[in-house]
Amino acid sequence: MPAQNNAAIEVRGLHKSFVVGAQTVSILKNIDLQVKNGEFVVVIGPSGSGKSTLLHSILGLEEPTKGEVIFLNSNLYKLASDDARADFRKAHIGMVYQQPNWIKAINVISNVAFPLALLGVGKEERLKKAEEMLKSVQMLDWAHYHPAELSSGQQQRVALARALITNPEVIIADEPTGNLDFESGEQLMTLLQQYNKKAGKTILMVTHDLVYLKYADRGIRLFDGMVQDNFNIDEKFDYRKYAVKTPQYVS
Ligand SMILES: Nc1ncnc2c1ncn2[C@@H]1O[C@H](COP(=O)(O)OP(=O)(O)O)[C@@H](O)[C@H]1O
Ligand SMILES: [Mg+2]
Repeated sequence: MPAQNNAAIEVRGLHKSFVVGAQTVSILKNIDLQVKNGEFVVVIGPSGSGKSTLLHSILGLEEPTKGEVIFLNSNLYKLASDDARADFRKAHIGMVYQQPNWIKAINVISNVAFPLALLGVGKEERLKKAEEMLKSVQMLDWAHYHPAELSSGQQQRVALARALITNPEVIIADEPTGNLDFESGEQLMTLLQQYNKKAGKTILMVTHDLVYLKYADRGIRLFDGMVQDNFNIDEKFDYRKYAVKTPQYVS
């Protein structure tokens, strides 16, 4: 695909409302944002501020009420169908959620290899690739265990290996550290940072935990469905500055 600009993700004038009973509730209000190729962007915002809804729109899973999403130069909601959007995700995006969704009957390495099975890759080749991926997240010793036997932190590292086995350009993560203790959270963030800096993966992650901002290049704060702040992060960045910032219209 030709690189027409250096934005991996571009969201333009996005609105999203839901009909709830007799009323329409506006959840995202005129969101504009860009994630450049190779950038690591963290969206922060309190629970209920619309972070997951925004990610779903960016993933092609939740059609905006208004506005558009351009992902790697594809205008997502102008693609032919949900199937076309699903194919787009499979080809280009690795997703990590707060809770990994395992196929419980099979072991860790087969779970990691599974996305390649869907693409028709042969068994020997996909297990070899899964081994490499597990090694890169320091989980190779656990290859033949079942996912339920692992700690939450270990499971999230395996989930990252599974998300990346198809070599997608972009990682999208929704509260990937949400269930983790501090040390496991730091380990996962360090891995994400390595995939960003060394392998050049573009990352868009959402969290309500400010302490993880330091791993990113840029932060975007969402409040009440609006972008409230968009800031660069350097070595001197102090997340505490962003800890409490209530808009003026709230007394
Ligand atoms: N399908 C839906 N129908 C109605 N309301 C929804 C729907 N999805 C999300 N919401 C509402 O949108 C708001 C933002 O939700 P969400 O995007 O999950 O926020 P966050 O991820 O920041 O916690 C919440 O008030 C939630 O109840
Ligand atoms: Mg959420």
